[in-house]
Amino acid sequence: MSSEKHQSATPIAERIEQFLYQHAQMYSPDIFLLGTHYREGRSDRTTTKPEIPEKPSASRNDRDAVKSIPVVGEQRSVNHRAQLLDEFYQEIKDCQKCKLAKGRTHLVFGAGAPDARLMFVGEGPGREEDLQGLPFVGPAGQVLDRMIKRLGFERDEVYIANVVKCRPPQNRDPQADEVEACFPYLQRQIDIIQPRYIFCLGRIAAHALLGYKAEMATLRGRIHYYKNSKVFVTYHPAALLRNQKLFWATFEDMKLFRKVYDQEIGDKPPMETPNKRA
Ligand code: URA
Ligand code: SF4
Repeated sequence: MSSEKHQSATPIAERIEQFLYQHAQMYSPDIFLLGTHYREGRSDRTTTKPEIPEKPSASRNDRDAVKSIPVVGEQRSVNHRAQLLDEFYQEIKDCQKCKLAKGRTHLVFGAGAPDARLMFVGEGPGREEDLQGLPFVGPAGQVLDRMIKRLGFERDEVYIANVVKCRPPQNRDPQADEVEACFPYLQRQIDIIQPRYIFCLGRIAAHALLGYKAEMATLRGRIHYYKNSKVFVTYHPAALLRNQKLFWATFEDMKLFRKVYDQEIGDKPPMETPNKRA
């Protein structure tokens, strides 16, 4: 019965998407529809008002239903997701789509639980990651490990990936053409994992995932959406290594995530407030 529903819903969803896209092209990139902000006609990337949602209510569920229009929900087992990720890795492991290919030792695909509720998205591999072929295993990784722990999670229950899979020379920012070439890989990973929450680490990840550029001050402190995932933005762990003053702001971002998580899932012990001197 439900598959019948999906079959009839898909063409309508596509037509609505098409309409929104055309509207954005012709009139304005900003469309507000039933509480959802569609930007540039890309209804997979939305931003809500900077407030924490109330406890689930009928009207909020209605809004969520609108947000999920472009996605035909599909429940997959953890094994199926693991298999899809593995097949996808095999498909792209020799990728030569951008100029970062020639400098890499290893393509850093991503790592973690294939059915993670929480996914972290970084910028691109650094030196240590390039050597080991794993994400966030260098100094920034140690900061991320502490952040994951503080959030009440284990590293092996989250998924960690980057916007670009190959190391930019001298750890420079990935360039627009590189992000454009590589971003579909991250999209595919998100489609397989279907994380309920995504933490963007730094502005490069936020800009890529949200599809527009804004200051960190604007991006932080609010909930964004990417397809069916709620997206949170915080500073990159490497920025914390350079500037410890960012620690408390990052802690605020973690608290915002946990507030939403505790309302919606609520299976973690309270987050401890670190000692001010820490
Ligand atoms: N910085 C990132 O953005 N990603 C990594 O994997 C490591 C450092
Ligand atoms: Fe391919 Fe991405 Fe590596 Fe570029 S960065 S070569 S697109 S995997």
